[in-house]
Amino acid sequence: MEGELWVKRENRISHLQPNHPGDRLRSGLCARGCLWVGKGRARSIRFFSWDVGVSMIIRRYRDGDEEGIVRVMNESFATFNQWGLTPEKWNGYEKIDPGFSREKAFVAESEERIVSHVQLVKREMNFGKFVVVSGVANVCTDPDFRSKGLATQVLQEALRDAAQWSALSALDTGYASGAHRIYRRLGFSPFHFFRRFSGERWEVERAIRRLKKFAGDLTSEVRPFEEKDKQDIERIYSANAEKVRGSCRRDPAYWEGKLFSRNSWQTFFYRQFDAREVMVLPGRAYAYVDWDEPARRLTVREANSEPGDNLALAAVYASALSLKEGINEAIIVAPEGDQSIDYLLADFYRFRVQNSFMVSVLNPAELLKQMAGKDNGSGKRVKLQLYNDLGYLDPVTVGLANFLPTANVSSDATIYVHQSIFMRMVSGLEDPIEALTSDKLVIVGDVEGVAVALRNHFTRHPFVLWPSDRWRSFQRDHHATRIWSS
Ligand SMILES: CC(C)(COP(=O)(O)OP(=O)(O)OC[C@H]1O[C@@H](n2cnc3c(N)ncnc32)[C@H](O)[C@@H]1OP(=O)(O)O)[C@@H](O)C(=O)NCCC(=O)NCCS
Repeated sequence: MEGELWVKRENRISHLQPNHPGDRLRSGLCARGCLWVGKGRARSIRFFSWDVGVSMIIRRYRDGDEEGIVRVMNESFATFNQWGLTPEKWNGYEKIDPGFSREKAFVAESEERIVSHVQLVKREMNFGKFVVVSGVANVCTDPDFRSKGLATQVLQEALRDAAQWSALSALDTGYASGAHRIYRRLGFSPFHFFRRFSGERWEVERAIRRLKKFAGDLTSEVRPFEEKDKQDIERIYSANAEKVRGSCRRDPAYWEGKLFSRNSWQTFFYRQFDAREVMVLPGRAYAYVDWDEPARRLTVREANSEPGDNLALAAVYASALSLKEGINEAIIVAPEGDQSIDYLLADFYRFRVQNSFMVSVLNPAELLKQMAGKDNGSGKRVKLQLYNDLGYLDPVTVGLANFLPTANVSSDATIYVHQSIFMRMVSGLEDPIEALTSDKLVIVGDVEGVAVALRNHFTRHPFVLWPSDRWRSFQRDHHATRIWSS
């Protein structure tokens, strides 16, 4: 019958009326075995779930959704629950982090109840040039509605939106977790496992001696943060962010909200700013320290000097590590692939963190456009065929000398490479020739010419994503026992 759909509800076939009589309906069987209906160009998807026995709407945030979003988050994340996330705190986060906005929240709604949620967070990350990245955060489903494909569908909808304004999406989750599988099925691939330097008090004491010896008298010039340091700190950060891949661009409002008004935080929760926990060598270097008293754990979560000023960096590290007596563990977050830091922190052990930082290339041509250097008109072209665990992405023809996409599609060779390996090459984490010799990258055509171009273009670089810029909470669970300000 025209304009009507028949669906299976509680194992009975029954009649589903469209929401509005005039709707142009599209219908089909979705992968999960539910019949879905939706308006032609509408940005919300309505479908019927066999498992839940009710009709579901997948859509963007609307006024008033915060109640439901926060309820699902509190039911899904022990940290938010214990700390008491409220709709007011959720709403207020827009003021702290301009990359977060309610408009970038997506939900599944069933009978006016929010049952699943995904948040997108906008960042500009350095991949040679600054690239707009859609960070995926706070993915959660009401425990009564799990394993019915809801997180998958809400994230799919969020990614459709993300593809309009970002060429790359990224997220951070436990490797081999249930969520990790969902992300892989939607095209994300493990990209990097972050390293952390860790030391007990014996390593810390040795490190302080080494750093002081290296920095000499400079250590005595390090003092706690003062208001007048703001501009210097921002300048030093920006100079490093240009050089270190993975670093994010920060505007003054972001600095003010996240780094000069607050100290440590767990997404929506934070400590009041304490100037004694930011060590500054005036005009030359700074280090942010996070002290966890119950665990007696000190974290240097960000330290930077003017690029190349390793004496200044050693001085702030020495002062930061000397800040507290009786440390059980000191953790240092620092860029990978920076040999001077490896030397300065040689006394620490390096651990890979189980969290998998994943990427998904949403639009290869746009990504390359944002990353590429200047077009120098070089004649040779190559077809770049990226793929992920699901299949091939749209191929792009690029100029060999600069990797800038060209409209001319004829090419001298084709490069086949997994998106993860490609992004690691771009980030300076993986050497293209090693990728080639281990078959992680395949060239068909002028192998030698392309290999030389790859080697010249993709060189090693230090890489870090500072905890302040992660879109997912960075503190570990032991902090959940402590109530911070909000
Ligand atoms: C992780 C989480 C968001 C998943 O939500 P969800 O709505 O249950 O996710 P999905 O239903 O899309 O997928 C989950 C599983 O159900 C399966 N599934 C999907 N539709 C199904 C259906 N109709 N029938 C049976 N199984 C189904 C999926 O294949 C997947 O299986 P797998 O674990 O074997 O890979 C949810 O468990 C949660 O909120 N956890 C706590 C918070 C959290 O850890 N978030 C992730 C932070 S990175």
